[in-house]
Order: sequence, then structure tokens, then C-alpha cells
Amino acid sequence: MSRPLRSAPVSAQFPIAVLASGAGSNLQALLDTVHGHDGIEIVAVGSNVPAAPALARAAAAGVPTAVFPLAEHADRAARDTALADWIDERGARLVVLAGYMQLLTPGFLSRYPHAVVNVHPALLPAFPGLGAVEQALVHGVRVFGVTVHFVDEGVDTGPIILQRAVELPHARTPEEVFERLHAIEHELLPEAVRLIARGAVRIDPADPRRVLLDP
Ligand code: GRF
Repeated sequence: MSRPLRSAPVSAQFPIAVLASGAGSNLQALLDTVHGHDGIEIVAVGSNVPAAPALARAAAAGVPTAVFPLAEHADRAARDTALADWIDERGARLVVLAGYMQLLTPGFLSRYPHAVVNVHPALLPAFPGLGAVEQALVHGVRVFGVTVHFVDEGVDTGPIILQRAVELPHARTPEEVFERLHAIEHELLPEAVRLIARGAVRIDPADPRRVLLDP
């Protein structure tokens, strides 16, 4: 029998932290669809970029924000310790990366085992890392997609929770691909958070690469 990952009964609070570096459209989707529903509450939005529009979205929703620029800390490990201390103070049980453009250190990840998730604009393991859509276009792919996965110490290498594909055989520019992928991201990331919050997501005890989803 596998153990649910930091699960909570639907009636209980499921506080989450979101980290974002940019526009924050995925954060907005979470604010609009899961925040305040089914016991899920976004209790913290963190960034490495002081001017990130994501922070303004959080503030507009009344969610506490904090900024942890690398330049203000001795190194990445020190920055991530401060970030994790703040997340813990806010009581989050899940950390959602929604366009957070920094690699998290092993020290940070060890504090949230199987409780950090990321949304990536490609069908992993194809096109990990930066510029996924651009790489896919250069490669001439006809099927694009989105992956929500647990974060491990690699670059977009953690166990896959949800994926959705879209056929775009005539796409030529990143803009037209992103327009379609964002719409998918804005459904898939909230769906993954809902599933985790209700304890429906487990790592397969027989194969730690595989994620089991309860119906
Ligand atoms: C998304 O495309 C996501 O897949 C990637 O970063 C982008 C963030 O977009 N990891 P936004 O800031 O949520 O609009």
C-alpha cells in the first residue's frame, strides 16, 4: 500500500506556496480556480524577481508575497534556506513552481519530499530546460504539450504527474504555440494541485519513477 503524499482530507486546509519569476498567468489560474476551494489556500507567493508581475497578481488577491533575489544572499543554498524558512513560516505543505526560473538546491528539495511540483511547456522527457518550445519548433515537432511533474534534483527530470498533448503541425512561431500551451497549463496545473490536495497522487512503491493517480 503506497502512502499519500502530504495529503489532507478535503475538508482540511491545504496551504500551498507558489514560486514565480514572470508574468504569473499560471499563478492567476491557481488563484482563480483552486484558491479558496476544497480546503486549498495559497498562503505564500515567492519570487526571485522584485518586479515580477506575478507578485502584483498575488498582492491583488491578498496573498502574502516575498522576494528572494540571489544577489542579496551569500549563495544559492543560503537563498533557498531563507526561502524555505519563509514558506515554512507560512505553513505551506506543497510548493508549486509556476514559471520559477531558478533551480532549487538539494537542501531546499530535501525539506519538501515529493511536495514540489512544476509545470513545463513540453512533453517531457523531450525538451527539458529553458527554451523548450523554441527547441521543439527547431526540431520540427508536430505534437506539442504540457507536463506537470514532481521536482527532483535534475532539470525537469522528476516523476510525471499529468501530461496533455496538442497537435500543431503548422505552428511556426513560439507565440502561436504558447497561446495554445498556456490554455492547457492553466487547466493542468490546477488539476494536479487539486489531486494532490485530496490525496489522490502517490509514488508507485514498485517504481519510484511512476506516479499513481487515484480515480
Ligand atoms: C509557463 O509556460 C511554464 O510552463 C514555464 O514558465 C511559463 C510561466 O508562465 N515553466 P506564467 O508566468 O505562468 O505566465
